[in-house]
Amino acid sequence: MFTVQALREGLKARVFGGTIYTFETIDSTSNCARALAGCFAPEGTVVISEEQTAGKGRLGRTWLANPRENLTFSIILRPALPPEAVNLLPLYVAVSVAQVCQQVARTKIECKWPNDLMVNGKKFGGILLEGSVKQNELEYVVVGIGLNVNQTSFSPELQQKATSLRLASGKEINREMLFREILLRLETDYQTVKTSGFQSILPSWLSFSSMNGKQISVEQNGSVFSGTVKGLSPDGGLILQTNGAEKTLFAGDVTIVGLDPANGVHAPRH
Ligand code: BTN
Repeated sequence: MFTVQALREGLKARVFGGTIYTFETIDSTSNCARALAGCFAPEGTVVISEEQTAGKGRLGRTWLANPRENLTFSIILRPALPPEAVNLLPLYVAVSVAQVCQQVARTKIECKWPNDLMVNGKKFGGILLEGSVKQNELEYVVVGIGLNVNQTSFSPELQQKATSLRLASGKEINREMLFREILLRLETDYQTVKTSGFQSILPSWLSFSSMNGKQISVEQNGSVFSGTVKGLSPDGGLILQTNGAEKTLFAGDVTIVGLDPANGVHAPRH
């Protein structure tokens, strides 16, 4: 099981990981972090667990991960930004995590809007942001990060869509080291985003994205929008050229037409 001591050894981040709660089993690290955030836990507090019994994905899905092989953790942020920033924060988190994973696994990582992490066309990571708004400002945001690190087998349902850094790189990855590197990168990039704005990370996000110019369809609350990806709007939306009109989307499930085994990598909704 993770120990605070092993996770902290050599941790260079100062604020992120200032307090770390470790669990062998928990329902969801994000549920726990939200409860802590509601009780004034400071920014940078992390909850990490070897196993989640009710891990949550986007759009009400379940996040499944084998215990003791992966990383499932949540971080409390208090960004003092307007609520709209919640569309941009996942892009910053995705780029930071992608950069670290690419360095550590020495494998090309891609970001799929809004916040999937992909390798070899399959999903190995997901990011879930949950925020609380008070007086028209984000009171806190819980960033939940799930990464398939050393898992080598997946259920038949996930096999075509899911992979891990170990499968992609051919080597076992030290999870504590990966965790520390991610915290440091997230902390550094958070400062950049706060001082220079989100525009500063949009070029990086685009360089990690394989979607520009691709034909995609996006499912959003039962409606499907199809078109060509034109880029990202300054507020983090995906710009689609649809039949005759440009449309900016802020949520949804993307399928890249022709090749997208990774869409819907999660277990079915409950
Ligand atoms: C997604 O791709 O749908 C997002 C998945 C996010 C999963 C992580 S695992 C740690 C944290 N706790 C949760 O219950 N969910 C997030």
